[in-house]
Amino acid sequence: MAEQNKEIVLSGIRATGNLHLGNYYGALRKFVAVQDDYDCNFFIADLHALTTNPDPAQLHANVKSILAEYLAAGLDPEKSTIFVQSDVPEIAEMYLLLNMHVGIGELMRTTSFKDKARKALGITPSADNDSDEAFEKEIIGAATNKRVNAGLLTYPTLMAVDILIQKATKVPVGKDQLQHLELTRRFARRFNSFYGVELFPEPSDFNFGGAPVKVPGLDGSGKMGKSEGNCIYLIDDPKVLRKKVMRAVTDEGPQAPDSPLSEPIANLFTLLELTSTPEVVKHFRDAYADCSIRYGDLKKQLAEDILAVTTPIRERINDILADEAYLSRVVKMGAERARERAANTLSEMRHIMGIRKF
Ligand code: TYM
Repeated sequence: MAEQNKEIVLSGIRATGNLHLGNYYGALRKFVAVQDDYDCNFFIADLHALTTNPDPAQLHANVKSILAEYLAAGLDPEKSTIFVQSDVPEIAEMYLLLNMHVGIGELMRTTSFKDKARKALGITPSADNDSDEAFEKEIIGAATNKRVNAGLLTYPTLMAVDILIQKATKVPVGKDQLQHLELTRRFARRFNSFYGVELFPEPSDFNFGGAPVKVPGLDGSGKMGKSEGNCIYLIDDPKVLRKKVMRAVTDEGPQAPDSPLSEPIANLFTLLELTSTPEVVKHFRDAYADCSIRYGDLKKQLAEDILAVTTPIRERINDILADEAYLSRVVKMGAERARERAANTLSEMRHIMGIRKF
């Protein structure tokens, strides 16, 4: 529950489908862990979901499923403010105001924009188009293509607004979001110094002293992500989950003692480190080092250890989803609380920028 003397934590997840282990270890698990000690604010980013594949038939269902997953994982509406981004219209207005202080060049150079724009346009990164200049030419060349919309370009502004409108200082996110946080700090500093005010504190990522995580996928390379099709979802039933893990990409096995790990195997170890005990990890590391490892055994153990994490959450999701009245109570209460601070920040910002009422 919002308390004045506690540091403000804020984070959100886009309403683009069910939550996977990347969302869980990168974000949700941390949300649950900090609820007692901070002024916590967690939301469902439905406006951000519109930047790619807007789907009116699916959006509300996605918001609801993430809300149910938040609650099933242990977020407590009595301790945390849980809300839907679009229920706080002050965010949309501040997004317009902050955009006046954001350069299109810096937005175009953001890694997530480049990745998503390239994907939408079917462009593969290469030595020829990897420089910022080549990329900008390419995108401007394809400017009539509505698959890359201005909302995607200004994604970092909206994310900065989510954070700054609540004056949050701690933002629990996965490694892939660090660049967006860097931009948020830059926008905050720029606004403060342009107007000579101290309106926005500078937020930082929040891992309780640990390193930010990147949860890998099961396909041998890269991170786990919805658009990569390599996810283990919190709602996967045991049969589906075991099958996914057993099918994870491996290699032909260590050929000599103490061989370096190939990427697919390093990824399996990363997942094992997240979900298993240190003893289990050590057992398989030793077995790899002396070439006695059997990847089938490692995968079986990994599947069971992941299930131990996801099963209690999965079992609660459907009950929570069925209770529409409860879900609606939670987000109404959350929106009320989130709007209070948002309205104050927006009104300070309007005043600072010279917007006055007659
Ligand atoms: P989204 O939905 O892409 O991701 C939600 C959270 O999950 C983390 N994450 C991962 N962490 C580790 N390994 C992975 N494979 C992995 N995949 C996803 C992301 O880092 C993120 O923490 N832009 C945000 C949503 C947002 C937001 C905000 C967050 C909008 N406004 C304000 C914090 C504060 C995002 O990436 O959503």
